[in-house]
Amino acid sequence: MLYRSPAKLNLFFKVLHKRADGYHEIRSLYQAIDLFDTLSLEKASQDRLTCTDPELPTDERNLVWRALQLFRTKASFAPVHLHLEKRIPMQAGLGGGSSNAATTLWALNRFAGEPCSLLQLQELGAQLGSDVPFFFSRGTALCTGRGEKLEEQEPLELRGVLVKPPYGLSTPTVYRETRVGELQEIKAPYFNDLEGAALRLEPRLKALKEQLLGCGFQTVCMTGSGSAFFCLGDGLIPKGALAFRAIQREKTHWF
Ligand code: C5P
Repeated sequence: MLYRSPAKLNLFFKVLHKRADGYHEIRSLYQAIDLFDTLSLEKASQDRLTCTDPELPTDERNLVWRALQLFRTKASFAPVHLHLEKRIPMQAGLGGGSSNAATTLWALNRFAGEPCSLLQLQELGAQLGSDVPFFFSRGTALCTGRGEKLEEQEPLELRGVLVKPPYGLSTPTVYRETRVGELQEIKAPYFNDLEGAALRLEPRLKALKEQLLGCGFQTVCMTGSGSAFFCLGDGLIPKGALAFRAIQREKTHWF
């Protein structure tokens, strides 16, 4: 079986405060988009994970492998070969790894005869990462807590272009650099409180944002902890940019 594993954008991203457990309390509008990795699942003689991207480890550092190990503790099913075809850039703030984990849980639940409800899958997902539960929504959700609590929203019509520079950013580093006291009040529909920290950590991002605004786009906003930007409105599309649109899934189907 083949499953698509979509990327997400954070249309707005408010960081509220740092919590006692080290995570940050956030409020963010998440949207699934039509940029996909693919995950294939086949019966095998033993559990195995392969991946098209040689830079991505296929051991317990890979969220797909961790999702498989976690699901094994919840259901009994035959050994599987999971193969991941990567297209979503990494260290981009596009949620690729989290999406892969959610897709793995969904695929394995199907394979095992649906022992878990959607809510149980979401709870399992939250053990793997803050962004994983979002992918069990229909495609548009307001996420709070450390990102794992979701309220479904009406579908959005949205098109734009994505720009991912060749360098990435590490999520924990960007959060560590975020100065909570300096965060701005919400004043635009699209904003990201992690952008200040990201631009300080990677000055080339500031120049990139200015260049993109110079192309004429109305909105140029970082997604998640970066380093990708989404651009909305009419603008001169830069070389290497990728057109995207918002997507939704049917209740009983994956994306
Ligand atoms: O939940 P996840 O494993 O994706 O988080 C990775 C890291 O990002 C955390 O260890 C933490 O440093 C940071 N983080 C945070 N606040 C959040 C989500 C993530 O500080 N709401």
